[in-house]
Amino acid sequence: MVEARITVNGEETPLAPAAPHTTVLDFLRERGLTGTKEGCAEGECGACSVLVARPGVDAPTDWVAVNACLVPAASLDGQEIVTSEGLATAGAPGTPPTLHPVQEEMAVRGGSQCGYCTPGFVCSMAAEYYRPDRRPHPETDGGNGSDHAEHAEHGPNGFDLHALSGNLCRCTGYRPIRDAAFAVGTPTDEDPLARRREQAPPAPVATRYALGDAEFVRARTLAETLRVLRERPDAVVVAGSTDWGVEVNIRSRRAGCVVAVDRLPELRDLRVGPDHVEIGAALTLTEIERRLDGEVPLLAELFPQFASRLIRNGATLGGNLGTGSPIGDSPPALLALDASVVLADADGEREVPLSAYFTGYRQSVRRPGELIRAVRVPLPLARVTAFHKIAKRRFDDISSVAVAFALDVEGGIVRTARIGLGGVAATPIRALATEAALEGRPWTAGTVEAAAAVLREEGTPMDDHRASAAYRSAMLGQSLLKLYARTTEAVSS
Ligand code: FES
Ligand code: FES
Repeated sequence: MVEARITVNGEETPLAPAAPHTTVLDFLRERGLTGTKEGCAEGECGACSVLVARPGVDAPTDWVAVNACLVPAASLDGQEIVTSEGLATAGAPGTPPTLHPVQEEMAVRGGSQCGYCTPGFVCSMAAEYYRPDRRPHPETDGGNGSDHAEHAEHGPNGFDLHALSGNLCRCTGYRPIRDAAFAVGTPTDEDPLARRREQAPPAPVATRYALGDAEFVRARTLAETLRVLRERPDAVVVAGSTDWGVEVNIRSRRAGCVVAVDRLPELRDLRVGPDHVEIGAALTLTEIERRLDGEVPLLAELFPQFASRLIRNGATLGGNLGTGSPIGDSPPALLALDASVVLADADGEREVPLSAYFTGYRQSVRRPGELIRAVRVPLPLARVTAFHKIAKRRFDDISSVAVAFALDVEGGIVRTARIGLGGVAATPIRALATEAALEGRPWTAGTVEAAAAVLREEGTPMDDHRASAAYRSAMLGQSLLKLYARTTEAVSS
């Protein structure tokens, strides 16, 4: 087998002697590329952001920013990455490099003080700079004028501030950073990273990288992957690795075998058929968001509230369901959509309704050796949908409570109601009693108030550092009242 290597800033760099659990962040820093910083080592600060060449949605290649602290270096065997050092252009011997346009704007607008967060900011900013469908919107002003509410998150250059939602700065303040983001122009035709987008990204390569008693495996096909999982049912399966990185860095877990599934073609399809939308389990949330382009409004409402753009560039629905966390944000939405999970093993496939998938705290019906291949969302979709995430911060936070609604109201009567809840039990759950309190009844304030009282009693919420049980209960009821207020506003306006 060919030696594992990663192209870093245009130079092929052997993976050895890195251990299979080495993160991209440590891999880079051990090779002297110390621009990439460690702040939190758990995907929250963005100081470690780097660019990876990935299959594009609107161009052959997208430059995608990811958290280097969360990704195993072995998972980038054969791939290309660019760090903050690689953005600048080397000058003649003895002269300083020429700054990249995003670095230049950060410098001239005072976007950096201690500089610790700056390499991460410039990488996230560069990913947005190169987003192929970013178009100037001269009428938007970034919230400086009369259109404050509507355009506060977009600049006149089309820069979407959500690109920076995973980057924290603790000394400059965000105003100069935002000014820099809203001042960057459009890449020129000679820009090497812009030109690189027109070529295909590196193809995934089969990897079997072992050191000591640990190994990292990437097979080419689903069938090969399932064979590996049958041999190694103890293997940890990774796609975006957003959970794996936290386990390795914070809990010092060292899996004997890690199996990557993120580039398996069988897990990366998105199809809209007559009866359902099938979403590949290894598509990233960013890819799903861009490819669905609002076609499933409940998911479109969920995505901006799901962690940060950096995390969404790695995280997958398969991972969010596979970990079985009771506070994952996608399960409540998928429960409300009546979704099912397609599970595959070496003997074939089976489809399980998501409402029957979770069996206990971080447990599910998924058997050892089984993989989530896809998620199916039945069509037609309910017409009244909403996703309410109650958390301490508006973006990039963990839910205290998450509530998703999917209702069909016809002739003023609630025909069907599906409500998914997160953060109020050991697993994500459906609010079955509330659904029954709504179905067949008129969509009126009286029905909704009675159903909200039922909703407050759903689940078994706990007191913890995020919220008290009483608060969680109260938020459930408020969530339904808010949905009703919004729908009646929409009808009367
Ligand atoms: Fe904080 Fe990676 S070091 S997100
Ligand atoms: Fe110091 Fe951002 S410049 S943390």
